[in-house]
Amino acid sequence: MADLAEALNRHNRLYYLDDRPEIDDAEYDELLRELQALETRYPKLRADDSPTQRVGAPPAGGFTPVPHRTPMLSLDNAQSADEMRAFDERIRRMLGSEDAIEFVGEPKLDGASVELVYEAGVLVVGSTRGDGQVGEDVTANLRQIWSLPLQLASAGAPYPERLSVRGEVVLPLAAFERLNVLRVERELEPFANPRNAAAGSLRQLHEIDKRRLGALEFRAYAIGEGLPAGLKRQSEILEQLETYGFVVTADRRVCADVEAAIAYHESLQERRDGLPVEIDGTVFKVDRLDLQQELGVLSRSPRWAIAFKFPPQQRTTVVEGIEANVGRTGALTPVAKLAPVRVGGVTVSNASLHNQDEVDRKDVRVGDTVVIQRAGDVIPQVVEVVKSKRPKKTRAYRLPAKCPVCKAATVRLEGEVVTRCPNLDCPAQLKNNLRHLASRGALDVDGLGEKLIEQLVDSGKVKRLSDVFNLDAAAFEDLDRMGAKSAANLAASLERSRKTTLARFLVALGIRHVGATVADLLATHFGDLGPMMEASKEEIEAVSGIGPTIAESLTRFFGDPRNRAEVERLRELGLEWTPQPARPAAGPLVGKTFVLTGTLPNLSRDEAKAQIESAGGRVTSSVSKKTDYVVAGESPGSKLAKAESLEVSVLDEAALVALLSEA
Ligand code: IVH
Repeated sequence: MADLAEALNRHNRLYYLDDRPEIDDAEYDELLRELQALETRYPKLRADDSPTQRVGAPPAGGFTPVPHRTPMLSLDNAQSADEMRAFDERIRRMLGSEDAIEFVGEPKLDGASVELVYEAGVLVVGSTRGDGQVGEDVTANLRQIWSLPLQLASAGAPYPERLSVRGEVVLPLAAFERLNVLRVERELEPFANPRNAAAGSLRQLHEIDKRRLGALEFRAYAIGEGLPAGLKRQSEILEQLETYGFVVTADRRVCADVEAAIAYHESLQERRDGLPVEIDGTVFKVDRLDLQQELGVLSRSPRWAIAFKFPPQQRTTVVEGIEANVGRTGALTPVAKLAPVRVGGVTVSNASLHNQDEVDRKDVRVGDTVVIQRAGDVIPQVVEVVKSKRPKKTRAYRLPAKCPVCKAATVRLEGEVVTRCPNLDCPAQLKNNLRHLASRGALDVDGLGEKLIEQLVDSGKVKRLSDVFNLDAAAFEDLDRMGAKSAANLAASLERSRKTTLARFLVALGIRHVGATVADLLATHFGDLGPMMEASKEEIEAVSGIGPTIAESLTRFFGDPRNRAEVERLRELGLEWTPQPARPAAGPLVGKTFVLTGTLPNLSRDEAKAQIESAGGRVTSSVSKKTDYVVAGESPGSKLAKAESLEVSVLDEAALVALLSEA
């Protein structure tokens, strides 16, 4: 249960805060359902801060927190008509009613939900959902949305003194595609889907992108506070919202019973692709407000509403070619080039086939008709080949024996699924490595973008990573579309990037499996690069937090004379870092592992961590048999329970301070 909670919290963060989900909604729902099922079986083991108890993630720094006076709830899901019928039955059982329940069906808009508060008819604050209890103040950005009334229209009847309206901010598909074209041109990563684009736009702090906010739309679907007297149904609320001047989805319907609801859902699904905005299902709400009241709400979702989800969108198209892309580590990825097809309103023309095994398993060939699907994100998958449509004389696809870029013979090691180009100087690898070196977690070179990297490598100005530090403003000026000013700026940002930290330098080298966290561990352990380069595999493995795969990768990297020469050259070209303050090698906390949980009375989490580390200890995030101490404060959560079950020593703040003073 703790593992599930941790995974869900992480995915919430990726989805809500970073706008960078790693799994699709169906996978997320599956994890959530699994945890819910376990909590129903073992209610005592439910952590107070379990992700089932909240919605989304807490607000990130940067925007002022706004508490919602009544929580912004989430919705339970149904995946099939039978689950809808079960929902309907559950409701009738609870109401003790034989009568059919009337539902309002509304498209489930795939965007970001927000709450708008109007006082005396004027918009005063608009906030994101956040964790359902507290959101973020994004009023300034919301004001840019033209379809959002800044002042309520009254149409005769007066409006409530304080009214809160809830709804979804969406980015229409056409605007979404335009935005992504723009982003790619500006060398920014495209958004995965319109939902992330909407959420990302709402939470942006920078002035430069303000214009894109105008393309967002607000669609109202509920009143949080200030329900005008006399309204008795959800359908009447929607009409009232229209009277106030809000855009309410026209495509809604009052359904006389659950079968009518299912029919509406199906008709909506058929029309789904033609709609201007992305929807991922139908929301059904019990129409009568008195019945809603009687049914009540659970901690996370109301009992009177459900989201009936659509299955992932599928289409067929033709594979016009299969290309092998070469990644940063030399991995060859087969990519199907598809006849462009719209899936869920987004045009798709590429689909990754991952690796040779995957190609073999699905037996995808050039000329094949394939079923592709989009599950939430733009990145599509090939589901299967329509074998009956296979043309004559096709051939099974094999990744090329020679790297498509540098022509070196490709290799696939025993037991690995990946086929690689082994040539470290391969231009494809070089470009990717350069992109990586310039990225924010590495040397953070401002202005060294995609197009420039292409030109630098293609023109032969950069033949290995270090070459980029051997170029001056004059050399950059030779490139296309490079003025004297941008050339000078780039030279200046390279100059700035020369001064870095050991950990960032390590990340910049692009060693497999060495990202920021690992680089930090290594840097603190070894203090400087010299000892790390000389360390044996066993010595590296002995660093806590480092396993055999990383140790192998590191020794292999530094075992290659070309890489050692590259490191040397980078230093000669002026790259320098302050040696990492080494972790104390003696003292009672060396070799001890700590886990922090809950809120300590005096120390912040960062302070506690810094003190433990400066005494030689290590702080990790999950409790295991190897943990030496769990430091527990107020509202500790499941980690404390786990510590107790594993008989790990538990300290309070006072005990920690005592231990530290001994240290
Ligand atoms: S009603 C108490 N209506 O779906 C019910 N939500 O999974 C609260 N959503 O947070 C939501 N379209 O972001 C409602 N017509 C609609 C919706 C809708 C999209 C979103 C909303 C909500 C999420 C729940």
